[in-house]
Amino acid sequence: LSSDDITRFCYFYAMFTVLLLGANSDVAKAAILQYAAKGYHIIAASRSTNALRTFTQQHNINATILYFDAADISSHEAFYASLPTKPNILVYAAGYLVSNEAAFKDFKGAFQMMQVHYAGAVSIINIMITDPQGNLERIIGLSSLSGVRGRKSNFIYGSTKSAFTQYLAGLRQYLSPRHIKVNVIVAGYIRSKMTAGLNLPENLMLEPEYIAAAVVNAGNQFTIVPGFRWKAIYWILKMLPERLVAKLP
Ligand SMILES: NC(=O)c1ccc[n+]([C@@H]2O[C@H](COP(=O)([O-])OP(=O)(O)OC[C@H]3O[C@@H](n4cnc5c(N)ncnc54)[C@H](OP(=O)(O)O)[C@@H]3O)[C@@H](O)[C@H]2O)c1
Repeated sequence: LSSDDITRFCYFYAMFTVLLLGANSDVAKAAILQYAAKGYHIIAASRSTNALRTFTQQHNINATILYFDAADISSHEAFYASLPTKPNILVYAAGYLVSNEAAFKDFKGAFQMMQVHYAGAVSIINIMITDPQGNLERIIGLSSLSGVRGRKSNFIYGSTKSAFTQYLAGLRQYLSPRHIKVNVIVAGYIRSKMTAGLNLPENLMLEPEYIAAAVVNAGNQFTIVPGFRWKAIYWILKMLPERLVAKLP
């Protein structure tokens, strides 16, 4: 490659903008570092704008930081209109977890999961894909293995992730004629704020950087299950008869 080719290459990539929603997530922050290293322009949107500002300054990343609340659906049109550039890539990383027990006792927690993982995601993504001036080329959603089969220990969180995964699956078909790619990251356990304090098997924990690499390097495949152990668990879960799923926690 000549130096002109390299300049053109860098210029080409510098034109790409990635919007991360729920950008203060540990996975999203790792993805910000990886996208920045590739020269992408970054719009990081989250409720915790101060934390994001500190993070990007610490890593010397020139990002646009915006306030975004997935559950505040009436704000989504104005949020999208306020974007300085219409993004080429959207990463939807917002996530919220309360236990099944807590969600049984207080519907607020269950409803918040529905809003953050499903209603809010559908709202903002629908706005983005119906913008005739939009530049979207790829949408990547952070979903979960909890959404693969209903299991008695975690089916309220799991069902919200399942709904999100199914939305993305249909969206991929719907957007295919427009050559917009859609990927879902079906993640197992990640060492992040969300799982801090939970007693999870150490040999199944994945680092946020590893999940972020799956996001940043997403290709044509719709379902991306990071980690070989989790790939095996995913396929077993998919194929297991219901009477055996019922024996799982
Ligand atoms: N951790 C796991 O084991 C695991 C497994 C499978 C899938 N996932 C999914 O992976 C994604 C990333 O999670 P993570 O592990 O990186 O956890 P995390 O660090 O706890 O990040 C979750 C982020 O979601 C943001 N969020 C929550 N409610 C929001 C709202 N109403 N509007 C906008 N943002 C909101 C939070 O923002 P604030 O910082 O402002 O509170 C938080 O930064 C999530 O979708 C999660 O469900 C996680």
